[in-house]
Amino acid sequence: MATAARTIKVEIKRQSSPDAKAVTETFEIPYRPNMNITSLLGEIALNPVDVSGKATTPVTYDSNCLEEICGSCAMLINGKARMACSALVDKLLAESNTITLAPLSKFPVVRDLAVDRSVLFENLKAVKAWVPIDGTYDLGSGPRQQPQIQEQRYPLSNCISCCCCMEVCPQFNVETGFVGAATIAQAKLFNMDPAGSVLKEDRLRALAGDGGIQECGFAQNCVVACPKELPLTEAISDMGRDVFVQQVKDFFTR
Ligand code: SF4
Ligand code: SF4
Ligand code: FES
Repeated sequence: MATAARTIKVEIKRQSSPDAKAVTETFEIPYRPNMNITSLLGEIALNPVDVSGKATTPVTYDSNCLEEICGSCAMLINGKARMACSALVDKLLAESNTITLAPLSKFPVVRDLAVDRSVLFENLKAVKAWVPIDGTYDLGSGPRQQPQIQEQRYPLSNCISCCCCMEVCPQFNVETGFVGAATIAQAKLFNMDPAGSVLKEDRLRALAGDGGIQECGFAQNCVVACPKELPLTEAISDMGRDVFVQQVKDFFTR
């Protein structure tokens, strides 16, 4: 007697537009070893038919690099914020027989699993997370960086703007307006840059304002969720100290 081919059951929370009601669709996909969530979604796109045989549309999601570099494919996979391209189906099936997919819950849904993460980019703008060069004339060589500073900066430069740290942060919500761990880490990255440090005080003052670093409850969910293992706890603690010193300086120079 022939045995039934192994399948993977996937439940996906879907939403056809930002204001549409969310529905759950269930799919059964033929099992192949070494799949990731992106390839699973690709299989659905090839044959968008749910488990009851009803035709539906391919699932919308963001993805670009397929190697955990662009940060666009973050979603809730089995309830955890992680990247679709690096989430391996074999490992997920060890967690549960059914794989669940849902959009990040703290960001506006664009469609299905695609969300609008522009809040992070607005927050990065608010703390001036850049090196201020205008590019209109040759500035010559930049200042030299000490190897010890490079070593501290490099892990912070690995941020892929995925927003997983913000999704899991209890303080990242509309009430607090908290900027979140990624923005604090990038403020530290640019404050440590010999050229970028010219805006250091502006960054510290921005982090002292509404939704700033004082909103962090130091629960450290962020550091656990970060797929690139940024040293977020250290960044938050260092920036908390620098913000305090800046506030004292500003108080006495008013
Ligand atoms: S330490 Fe906690 S409160 Fe602070 S940014 Fe990380 S998750 Fe949010
Ligand atoms: S700090 Fe980590 S979790 Fe947060 S946006 Fe950057 S890479 Fe993603
Ligand atoms: S597709 Fe770029 S991080 Fe997943």
